[in-house]
Amino acid sequence: MVNVFKRLTKSLRLISLKKSEDFFLKQINDEKIPVHVAIIMDGNGRWAKARRLPRIAGHRAGTKVVHQIVEVAAELDVKYLTLYAFSVENWQRPKSEVSALMGLFDKMLAKEIKELHESNVKFIAIGRLNELSQRLQKTIEKAMRLTEKNTGLILNIAINYSGRVEIIDCVKQIAKKVDRKELEPDKINEETIINNLYVPGAPDPELLIRTGGERRVSNFLLWQIAYSEFWITPVLWPDFKKINFLKAIYEFQLRERRFGGLQ
Ligand code: IPE
Ligand code: IPE
Ligand code: MG
Repeated sequence: MVNVFKRLTKSLRLISLKKSEDFFLKQINDEKIPVHVAIIMDGNGRWAKARRLPRIAGHRAGTKVVHQIVEVAAELDVKYLTLYAFSVENWQRPKSEVSALMGLFDKMLAKEIKELHESNVKFIAIGRLNELSQRLQKTIEKAMRLTEKNTGLILNIAINYSGRVEIIDCVKQIAKKVDRKELEPDKINEETIINNLYVPGAPDPELLIRTGGERRVSNFLLWQIAYSEFWITPVLWPDFKKINFLKAIYEFQLRERRFGGLQ
């Protein structure tokens, strides 16, 4: 009887260990941490709906998660974290939701930037920023200037972002260089494109996480995800925790990446 009890408690302990942050931390190989992780933070609306709350309550809960995920990414030594906060297509939502979201971005950024700076995080906003309100543009500029020289995690937040628009903006820049005779059209290659994207020269994300369970890209980083590993979880963004991020990294490390070759 005592033995049965002992065996039972041992397996219970094993089960709970499997679910703990420690379990994944121990399994993760420090030498295979992805340099760049991108996240489509989806599911805020459904999270709120399930609680009979207004959608904005879901967005508010979502911003709290950002803090924790930035922290764990920095702890793991991920170099680039790119978060999809608002797409060009999201302007189609009701005015009240859009303006509440914009207000939330402004408030959160103004509140969090000091701590981000103290943690040596370099903040970069990507997207058509000139179409945002003057107030939000100012907050963004201030945050980017403050953290410009930081050498830790590079945190890219995509606001008013579209992968196609990023490619259009990239092509425009290249065309201008050709026009000024700084570049010969025949010399345009992959490097030229990479150096004219919103974060010039950034490595492609090795891992793309999408919360909320949808199996689509929704116009995110179209050029950069050519060979990214997709990791989709049904967990809604406001419920996403450090342990979910650790699990994504752990499972990413088990993947065999072939890049079209035979390995
Ligand atoms: C993601 O959550 C946040 C934004 C797109 C701004 P959603 O608002 O899309 O949440 P769901 O997909 O409706 O649950
Ligand atoms: C993608 O989520 C955009 C962001 C997370 C900011 P959406 O909710 O806008 O995507 P769809 O509409 O489900 O494709
Ligand atoms: Mg959504």
